[in-house]
Amino acid sequence: MLLCICSGPILAHDPVTTRITWTQEISRIVQNRCLRCHGEGSSISFATYAEARPWAKAIRNQVLTRKMPPWGAVHGAGEFRDDPSLTEPEIERVVQWVEGGAPEGDPIYLPRPRSVPAVAAIRRHEAARISSTQPLTLKREYAFTAIRPDSPLEAVATLPDGRVEHLIWLKDYHGLTYVFRDPVRLPKGTVVRVTRGSAVLLDLAPVASVALH
Ligand code: HEC
Repeated sequence: MLLCICSGPILAHDPVTTRITWTQEISRIVQNRCLRCHGEGSSISFATYAEARPWAKAIRNQVLTRKMPPWGAVHGAGEFRDDPSLTEPEIERVVQWVEGGAPEGDPIYLPRPRSVPAVAAIRRHEAARISSTQPLTLKREYAFTAIRPDSPLEAVATLPDGRVEHLIWLKDYHGLTYVFRDPVRLPKGTVVRVTRGSAVLLDLAPVASVALH
């Protein structure tokens, strides 16, 4: 094995005042949360320290304002798989790293590169469409697996017994399909409403007619 003590280009105006490094902490957060869209070869790549370093301030701003990773759904209304949002401690670490001079650290600590899992490809098909002008009353029981809003909106289900279930509260629209952590079972007679725009609810495709979206 070749050992290399490379200092890299000197970034003179950013004195290092943090122990948080790219190779130990930040590369792992980026691998888990960002590389799906910012991997090698993408227009803005964070695959290596050299590529990510010039973006440090922008990365700080994007995670601090929770603009990145794009998600848009407010936490607490609905539970979803594939939620890539950073935890508070992760945001804190990124901010401290950037404000502390964004040091690289020792390359021996870099995580193994790994292929990033794509968004869960589950079998599902369009079960129902709801629009703000047309609430949906379920004619039978459904187990919805995902929701695909077409604008920022809130989707709320009122069950026949009066209970209210918040399916999603989407503040920013990113064109995503939101897969529920567990299928949301709603009995016949449930009324589903959206506050604006429209949304498609997906359920498991009948085995004979699988449609992938
Ligand atoms: C689902 C895809 C996706 C994920 C995941 C994602 N991004 Fe992005 N990001 C984008 C897109 C799309 C753009 C728009 C620019 C482009 O790539 O063309 C962007 C732009 C950015 C920019 C540039 C913003 C600017 O204009 O200054 C930064 C910085 C950024 N992302 C940081 C991050 C960080 C940090 C993460 C992980 C914590 C992350 N992104 C995760 C899709 C994503």
